[in-house]
Amino acid sequence: MSEIALRQESVPATVLPASEDRVQWLLSSVLRNRFLPQPAPDSVFVGDGDFKAVGAEFLGHFIRMGGLQHESRVLDIGCGIGRMAVPLTQYLDFEKGRYSGIDPVEGGIAWCRRFITPAYPNFAFQRVDIAHDLYNPQGKISGKALKLPYADRHFDFVIMTSIVTHLPPDEVLVYLSEIGRLLRPGGRLFMTAFVVDPVAAANETGRRDPRLAFERDGDGPCWFVPDLPRLAAVGFDDGFLDGALGRAGLTAVVKSLGSWRGQAADHYQDVFVAEHRGSGA
Ligand SMILES: C[S@@+](CC[C@H](N)C(=O)[O-])C[C@H]1O[C@@H](n2cnc3c(N)ncnc32)[C@H](O)[C@@H]1O
Repeated sequence: MSEIALRQESVPATVLPASEDRVQWLLSSVLRNRFLPQPAPDSVFVGDGDFKAVGAEFLGHFIRMGGLQHESRVLDIGCGIGRMAVPLTQYLDFEKGRYSGIDPVEGGIAWCRRFITPAYPNFAFQRVDIAHDLYNPQGKISGKALKLPYADRHFDFVIMTSIVTHLPPDEVLVYLSEIGRLLRPGGRLFMTAFVVDPVAAANETGRRDPRLAFERDGDGPCWFVPDLPRLAAVGFDDGFLDGALGRAGLTAVVKSLGSWRGQAADHYQDVFVAEHRGSGA
């Protein structure tokens, strides 16, 4: 364990700053911590941006927008190469907090198992061979018939960052239904997406990210970027994800539109936080 982390552990709880100060202190300590594992830049296949800075940013969103707790049992769907997991090691309780990450890409899972689990045994990673045109074209499991290998009501918090931005709508529906099964009542999903609202569709502000020149795909809810492979960036009609969450037994408690459409926001993709409203029966 790093010297920095040991110093943090030794600070008595009574002198720790409260709430927002505490979050800021945590995020800056993640950013300063030279001992946190970090993959080689050329093996990071999960998107551009600084690996550590993006992870720290999302840890802040999970806590502030999602209400993530130290003792949460977390499922990270499409965990990639641990960009969300690495900062979570500094937040989830070592004894009671639990993290499970799944992804179809073997290299990312192997890196996480090698560099995260030995120091944090409450962090588990599993490869699931789900087919995906770009990430896992030879995959044996269809995303349209997916059953995740976990018991009903097992999780408090599910993460899907930059996942539905790469999935066709029928697979999004299967995932949301699975999340409805896996979350305990009151448990939460934190999901990012591209919601193609009128502002984004018309590039009303003229400031939309130029890489995301979405065009509607026929009569369906999907928007694709004509110059890119279809699943490189997927947007959805405004309302599609809200309706799908509702059908899965989840109620959106946060819907925060992101800066990709050209409007001010402290996050790039759109963010949904949705709560499981079931009785647990
Ligand atoms: C843009 S990356 C985001 C990774 C990670 N969530 C993050 O934010 O760092 C998309 C991830 O989705 C994974 N993926 C692709 N198809 C998937 C599927 N059907 N189910 C779960 N994950 C999938 C890819 O392997 C990749 O790791």
